[in-house]
Amino acid sequence: MLNPASKSPFSTIEYMQTCLKDDLAIVETILTEEAASPVDMIPDLSGYIVAAGGKRLRPMITLAAAYAAGGATSATHYLSAAVEFIHTATLLHDDVVDNSDLRRGKPAAKMVWGNTASVLVGDFLFAKAFHLMVRTGEIKILDILAKASGVIAEGEVRQLAAQGRLDLPTEEYLAIIEAKTAALFEAAAEAGALSAGHAEHSAALASYGKNLGLAFQIVDDTLDYGGTTSLIGKSVGDDFREGKITLPVVIARRRGAPEDRAFWDRAMQVDKQEDSDLAHAIHLIRQTDAAKASMDEAKAYIQLAKNALITLPESEYRILLESLADFCLDRGY
Ligand code: IPE
Ligand code: IPE
Ligand code: MG
Ligand code: MG
Repeated sequence: MLNPASKSPFSTIEYMQTCLKDDLAIVETILTEEAASPVDMIPDLSGYIVAAGGKRLRPMITLAAAYAAGGATSATHYLSAAVEFIHTATLLHDDVVDNSDLRRGKPAAKMVWGNTASVLVGDFLFAKAFHLMVRTGEIKILDILAKASGVIAEGEVRQLAAQGRLDLPTEEYLAIIEAKTAALFEAAAEAGALSAGHAEHSAALASYGKNLGLAFQIVDDTLDYGGTTSLIGKSVGDDFREGKITLPVVIARRRGAPEDRAFWDRAMQVDKQEDSDLAHAIHLIRQTDAAKASMDEAKAYIQLAKNALITLPESEYRILLESLADFCLDRGY
């Protein structure tokens, strides 16, 4: 029986996965069944990334949201699998566009099968996600996730346009991460409530998901300069090598001395980077307390996410949602 309160504070992802293990097992079965195809490369490649051990954070949000709103149904399981497929598809595409070699602690699928196969199998998973949404029988769920999928793509393109733009206003950074990351968290939580047949809680859960997603991406962007590759399962410094302007960089540059600003202005141009630049960037981010300031920003969004839960009935699953929020802040450090 789920009893999160008995283990407080519980913030490890493994414990939360244990709380939802029966439901997650059903979701995993759906993921495997839906990735089947007579075209061998499709189950091979998708099976590789699905089995590589992602946290299953988004399906957990959907499941916990559904339970907190009143109870999960079979529609919740289809929805959770759809959400994880959308996420997986975006990762396959994202590692191509970001030129990232490591994902979930393993060589990215594009390193094994190549860019073209990664993009095409990502498309397959997107299509399967839509098929699963139809199986929920709820047109409103389809509407929410279809919109979110478009917004994610917009976020990725918007980020592309912001590459190397060192004067990126914080508002634009936030708009980018809201689109590329928070939109799926928001949809996962909002649609979770609908899958439980409790639309009255969908707005609160949407707000929870959005704020959680914003915090999650800010933490992720901070870990890119201070995390450990073995813990985050991705190469530290990927954002830097791609000239991606993220919150810790914006803050460190703003707070830096003129020579530091000159450093950022040169080093964030991909073709002007030197071997020692990443180490210096990490040093400046620490020296200016930009990592701490970014984490404080993330903390504020986590608080907003938790506040949004107040209108939900008290339950062990509401506590689980709070714990998921705590985890998003603590992970990787
Ligand atoms: C990675 O998300 C993509 C971002 C939004 C930063 P996760 O860190 O949830 O990825 P997995 O599923 O656990 O690998
Ligand atoms: C991930 O963005 C967001 C999407 C996949 C849409 P990032 O590029 O920042 O995430 P990582 O670092 O590759 O996981
Ligand atoms: Mg990216
Ligand atoms: Mg990336």
